[in-house]
Amino acid sequence: MACNVVVLISGSGSNLQALIDSAADDGNPARIAAVISNRADAYGLQRAQNAGIATVVLDHKQFDSREAFDAALIQAIDAHRPDLVVLAGFMRILTGDFVRHYQGRLLNIHPSLLPRYKGLHTHQRALEAGDAEHGCSVHFVTEELDGGPLVVQAVLPVAAGDTIETLAQRVHAEEHRIYPLAVRWFAEGRLRLGAQGAMLDGQPLPASGHLIRT
Ligand code: GRF
Repeated sequence: MACNVVVLISGSGSNLQALIDSAADDGNPARIAAVISNRADAYGLQRAQNAGIATVVLDHKQFDSREAFDAALIQAIDAHRPDLVVLAGFMRILTGDFVRHYQGRLLNIHPSLLPRYKGLHTHQRALEAGDAEHGCSVHFVTEELDGGPLVVQAVLPVAAGDTIETLAQRVHAEEHRIYPLAVRWFAEGRLRLGAQGAMLDGQPLPASGHLIRT
């Protein structure tokens, strides 16, 4: 049975593209029902249209409060009857009401090895700290920003000559591997949020999520 996915974006949508490409793979039950952006100029909207996917623009600046925007966002998302909602570079902090509404069916991707470097400027912070490893994480979203149970992390070594740009590029390439993987697991019914954290094939995942080393 198909798994309806709604993807939320604010920008380029390269993760969205990876999800579009992977949804076309043989036997993948994930079906991207709609792409919603809070910015009318997000390039990801073009990617969705090129793939024949419905798009919605909901400009947060048209709303008086975060609560009012999130309520309208819930309506726009639920019109597409999602089994899963995927945040793919959606640059908005979500209200508790929103997060609770999608409890267990809301995923995010973050460009660091969580719990390290929640928030912004993750590549710079990893470099400044002299970390030997960096990477990206897919996690279920809870009310704690970038703090929900981890599903999968891609770990890559930081090289001596790395800059913010080279690191960002390699992390991004890994994002395009692990996000489609996590979404497919969910669509296949293999990935669930249990009371104690993320579960894969009925077994609890480690606190770090499933680790992929490159
Ligand atoms: C990614 O780095 C993701 O980790 C972060 O936002 C960025 C989105 O990039 N949450 P793109 O729009 O998918 O290219």
